This record gives sequence, C-alpha cells and structure tokens, in this order.
Amino acid sequence: MSKKMLKVVGGVVFLTVFAAGAALAAGKIGVTYEKDVKKIISERCLLCHGSNAPTMEAYKKDEAGFKKAMKGPKADTYANLMVMVNGSDTGALMRRLDDGKSTKDGKPGNMYDNLGGTEQERSANLKVIKDWVGGWTLKRKKDISADELKAIKALEK
Ligand code: HEC
Repeated sequence: MSKKMLKVVGGVVFLTVFAAGAALAAGKIGVTYEKDVKKIISERCLLCHGSNAPTMEAYKKDEAGFKKAMKGPKADTYANLMVMVNGSDTGALMRRLDDGKSTKDGKPGNMYDNLGGTEQERSANLKVIKDWVGGWTLKRKKDISADELKAIKALEK
C-alpha cells in the first residue's frame, strides 16, 4: 500500500471509531423503548394493558373490577409504561416481571409468565427489559432513593 493510501485508510478507520464512540455516548446503541421494548410490550402485554385498558388513575379506583375484566393499567405508550417504571407506581413493572432473582420470596412476579411461551423466550425478553431499565429495583416510590431513581434509565429513543 502506498503512503497516501495508508493515510486514507487510517482516516477512515479513525472516523468510523469516532462515529461509533459518539453514537454510544448518545445512547443510540443501547437498549431503547422504541427500538427494543415496544415490540415486546405490544406482543406480550397489550392484550390486557392496551389502549382500551384504564389509565393508572382509573385503575386504582376499581382494581378488583378491572382484575375481573382482565384489564391492567394502560401500557400502550412510553409515557403510560413509565408510570409503572419510575412514575406514580414506581417499580411496578420490575416487581411484576422479576423472575424471582430479586424478589424476597424467590418467586417470580405474577406477570413474568406473560413474557413468553417458553422459558427461553421469557428470560430473553426479561433481559432486554432489564437492560433497558438499567438500575433494576423492586422498590416502591416511598422507599426508593434519589440515586436508585437516577439509575433507572429506560430511554425512549
Ligand atoms: C391476560 C391479561 C394480561 C396480560 C397478557 C398481561 N397482564 Fe399485566 N395485569 C393484568 C391484570 C388483570 C392486572 C391487574 C391484576 C394484578 O395486579 O395482577 C395486571 C397488572 C399488571 C401490573 C401491575 C400494575 C399496577 O400498577 O398495579 C404490571 C406492572 C403488569 N401487569 C405488567 C404486565 C406486563 C409488562 C405484561 C407483558 C409482559 C403484562 N402485564 C401482561 C393482566 C395482564
């Protein structure tokens, strides 16, 4: 290779590494709601947490009634899902989806089964959601620390 060619190749390599680094810093390569989580939620959860399900506010007023009707709080948009991640019902998503590794009694949360038809699918989907959340905690709003709240990433894009 000529000296000039080497220079060009070197420049291209440098730019590629630089661009990848910049994308990583901007969180573009990490797990996001739009890219990874939305699909799992729409395939596995929206049957009962879809746009015809109650808002969290409405749900809390008649939990027993909605449970009978097989409806849980709406998780049809990023904002509605986040209510159960770091909003008024902080940690609800994590408490219900945990596979038993973080629960006190070692039992999975009661929505874990909905993550897939096979154990392999359930654990793969849980991994995506755990990576997305970041600081995985089962704590409620009243118990969570500011640092723990900050560790929850759950990026939209
Ligand atoms: C077959 C219906 C059904 C499916 C599918 C389903 N859920 Fe649920 N979910 C419910 C019902 C009904 C409730 C309310 C009763 C209860 O608390 O168990 C609920 C409650 C919840 C709660 C607690 C809400 C709160 O704030 O109290 C969370 C979080 C949750 N579901 C997440 C999920 C996720 C995530 C999925 C998909 C992996 C999912 N659910 C799939 C029916 C379902």
